[in-house]
Amino acid sequence: MILLKSTNGPACSILSYITKRLTLLIPPLVCLSLICTGSTFAQEKVQLSVDTSNLGARIDRNIFGQFAEHLGQGVYEGIWVGPDSKISNTRGIRNDVVSALKAIKVPNIRWPGGCFADEYHWRKAIGPQRVVTLNPNWGGVIEPNTFGTHEFLDFIEQIGADAYISVNVGSGTPQEAAEWLEYLTTPQQTTLAKERAANGHAAPYKIAYLGIGNESWDCGGNMTPEYYLSQLKIYSRFVRNFNPAQQDKQQMLKIAVGPGGGEERWTEWTEHIMKAWQNHQWSWDMNGLSMHNYTVVRWPPAFASVGFGETEYSQILKSTLDMESLIDKHSAIMDKYDPQKKIALIVDEWGAWYASLPGSHPGFLAQQNSMRDAILAALNLNIFARHADRVRGANIAQMINVLQAMILTDKDKMVLTPTYHVFKMYVPFQDASFLPVTFNAGSYTHGDITLPRIDAIAAKDTAGKLWLEITNVDPNNSVEIETSLNGINAKSARGETLTAPKVDSVNTFDAPNTVTTKPISVKIEGAKVTFKLEPKSVSVISVE
Ligand code: AHR
Repeated sequence: MILLKSTNGPACSILSYITKRLTLLIPPLVCLSLICTGSTFAQEKVQLSVDTSNLGARIDRNIFGQFAEHLGQGVYEGIWVGPDSKISNTRGIRNDVVSALKAIKVPNIRWPGGCFADEYHWRKAIGPQRVVTLNPNWGGVIEPNTFGTHEFLDFIEQIGADAYISVNVGSGTPQEAAEWLEYLTTPQQTTLAKERAANGHAAPYKIAYLGIGNESWDCGGNMTPEYYLSQLKIYSRFVRNFNPAQQDKQQMLKIAVGPGGGEERWTEWTEHIMKAWQNHQWSWDMNGLSMHNYTVVRWPPAFASVGFGETEYSQILKSTLDMESLIDKHSAIMDKYDPQKKIALIVDEWGAWYASLPGSHPGFLAQQNSMRDAILAALNLNIFARHADRVRGANIAQMINVLQAMILTDKDKMVLTPTYHVFKMYVPFQDASFLPVTFNAGSYTHGDITLPRIDAIAAKDTAGKLWLEITNVDPNNSVEIETSLNGINAKSARGETLTAPKVDSVNTFDAPNTVTTKPISVKIEGAKVTFKLEPKSVSVISVE
């Protein structure tokens, strides 16, 4: 570890240099005005100031969305065990998983893919006779189609989430997708509605989001923006939601395929779709533009998900902060064509993508989830919150047993990951109003990587309670935070923190609580709230 001692001499110049560079690299993230006082930097008290009078955009609960693709053990084993399983289940769906997901108030789940969605044919997965097919994208394994439309909608109903369905644009037809939506949503006695009733659901389903294709510039059909736009117009016109409850305020939101990075081909993609939307005619529309961005550093994914040190910790966290500039870049294009921000940016695939666990099927994308992932999740959620006016949805990839999961399962066993705990801690931020917060982030340096040492957001919930999240990125030093609340006199405050012995600490079936939350002591001194953050920790404080 390099402990930066800030003085008014050369070390202070180094800090100023780092400050300037970081300010250039990640300008909106934090105020990096380092204070060179002569004391050891790691012992500085960080002043955090919350502007409680300046309510910002609502932090849409849907930024805490999940993604469940037919991939590896994400659906089969992770969610679906079948009604005859010895594992406790309700109509084939694991009870342990349902209750864990209810506790994090999952707002929506994107399904059935991913790349899988562009090869999915819904009719093969309804009714008593399922068609057994293959899953060519993910290991070429058998797809039994025992988890289909009704099972997915039963599952989300059990956990209280909304449905985000991605329809097949790559190898399907507009007719197939239109019939799926008629099957799902019409209250009228059409042949498809009668079939839905015969399959156990007479009432129309509510579908909150409709994804029109997935990564259509790549696994979704390698389309040009021009070609995709022509498909978008057709699908958005003909794939209708007939549910009477969704004709007015609770309309189904149509999400167009958007960028997968910051390179020119993706800025052109965003330009093309947004420009067309600005001039769109009545006969087609969209409500959101998707964006995918994984933290991977390089392809193929090579970083280990467990058994790594501080070098890999800092490299991954540096890479994850690219999310901010990517959102800025695409938001700026969107602003040109949609200054009123009618179109949401939906980051519907994000998270860490590491090398598959040794011994696992390489097509199953199985990885462990460590304290590093908890920090990574918090940093990304904070970025989304800071862009709440445009980013109104996000889906971490993926919910169970795949990539940066909330939950890992092994037969009847289940373990909650560090990322799960972060999502649980952030529940109070769902639909809360963003509050501006200013602070001296300081810096954490390891080798040639320098990162802002702390990150923070603040929000006010609908009951008027104030919430703060503060992440201490530094894995070696604790930090004291003194928060001033802009005139508000706090009566009580409490908090919890998530930390672990090491940056690569994980929860396992045998040791499920290595990375878990504990209370944090918070002091109120007049208008100031003070607390100490442990190294590499995610903390949430509430103030009343
Ligand atoms: O999440 C895994 C895959 O990553 C998805 O199927 C695809 O959309 C993306 O490339």
